[in-house]
Amino acid sequence: MNISTKISKSEELIEKEERYGAHNYHPLPVVLKKGKGVFVWDVEEMRYYDFLSAYSAVNQGHGHPRIIKALKDQAEELTLSSRAFYNDKLGDFEEFVCNLFGYDKSLIMNSGVEAVETAMKLCRKWAYQIKGISPDQAKIVFAEGNFHGRTISVISASNDESARKDFGPFVGGITHVPYNDADAFEALLKTDKNIAGFIVEPIQGEAGVVVPDADYLARIKALCQAYNVLFIADEIQTGIARTGSMLASYEVDSEEKSNQPDILILGKAISGGVLPVSAVLANDEIMLTIKPGEHGSTYGGNPLACAVAREAIQVVIDENLAENAQKLGKIFRAGLEKIATKTDLIQSVRGKGLLNAIVINCPEESDMAWDICMKFKENGLLAKPTHGNKIRFAPPLVITEAQIIESLDIIERSLLSVA
Ligand SMILES: Cc1ncc(COP(=O)(O)O)c(C=O)c1O
Repeated sequence: MNISTKISKSEELIEKEERYGAHNYHPLPVVLKKGKGVFVWDVEEMRYYDFLSAYSAVNQGHGHPRIIKALKDQAEELTLSSRAFYNDKLGDFEEFVCNLFGYDKSLIMNSGVEAVETAMKLCRKWAYQIKGISPDQAKIVFAEGNFHGRTISVISASNDESARKDFGPFVGGITHVPYNDADAFEALLKTDKNIAGFIVEPIQGEAGVVVPDADYLARIKALCQAYNVLFIADEIQTGIARTGSMLASYEVDSEEKSNQPDILILGKAISGGVLPVSAVLANDEIMLTIKPGEHGSTYGGNPLACAVAREAIQVVIDENLAENAQKLGKIFRAGLEKIATKTDLIQSVRGKGLLNAIVINCPEESDMAWDICMKFKENGLLAKPTHGNKIRFAPPLVITEAQIIESLDIIERSLLSVA
């Protein structure tokens, strides 16, 4: 018998990726070919609950009909104009996000990391042109344990050895403080006059869903104001209703918008998992420091991206996905806490809205979290360990209460069968 007939379609496709693709990821061995709402199917037609949502990009659910229609309609008209010319979708989208989030201006990019880079560049321009820091002396503060993407300047701000090893030399002008430690940030501000901004995640997603104290962001914002430093929130993972409100850092529809960052960074779910779109928002004093020809991207602000993202954000509003995330998040965490009483495997449960994680009772280097995720997969639910012993749960926000209950049942059955 021919050897190739013995292996499954999945195995064949995994082998192909191994053979021809760079080995820069370690995926769970499942090959997906279809998605609808909260479900994805593999090439053997097995159905799974998607509890990763492409790292929180698919908040609106897979293949949302309104977003796919916007994609198709716009694809028939114009996909790319470049910024050498105007297009008829960019201005509308910019106006929409500026009004929704409460800023003067927006700058549209593609991937999340590009938006973080853009924010770093804006922060430096502002430091020299407005704050008056001496040339090349500006410093940007990052929190320890952060994840903001993979470019050289952004990994220069990482303190995760696996993200940095053999990628040096790194970009300068970066300094760190512990996460969730406003006192440490204040101590730094007192001693260093060259601090231009602080880039921080309202909840650290990749670090394993680390939720700071309730007053952390308010203290950071107040310190930034007191020391004339830009407060920059990376809401690429926490934004667009994931944590139970449109943004995790401030209430977009309140008048006072307390904790509103000076620069807001968005990505992932602003386009509902359909194509890469990211955005940086700021007021004129900051945004207009970048002049024509000083920053850009061929695909940034393309009409296809703008049409899709406009509809994707509107879907989040129309379907009350923030409220759903808040309500079902509580039910989900309560369910996880209950499971934790039946097994020693769960050390703790944490999260907000529908961005949650369990910390597994094992060392970070252990394979236990991976083995548990394999069990989830066997039972029809996909989740992935993050930072060794944490398993993140982030289903599409269109999930229903009945589906949350069924998912909890899968999680419980899986954990009890591993224990
Ligand atoms: C908080 C945060 N910032 C930035 C990024 C990078 O986004 P992208 O992978 O689209 O470059 C991520 C991705 O996980 C993220 O979670």
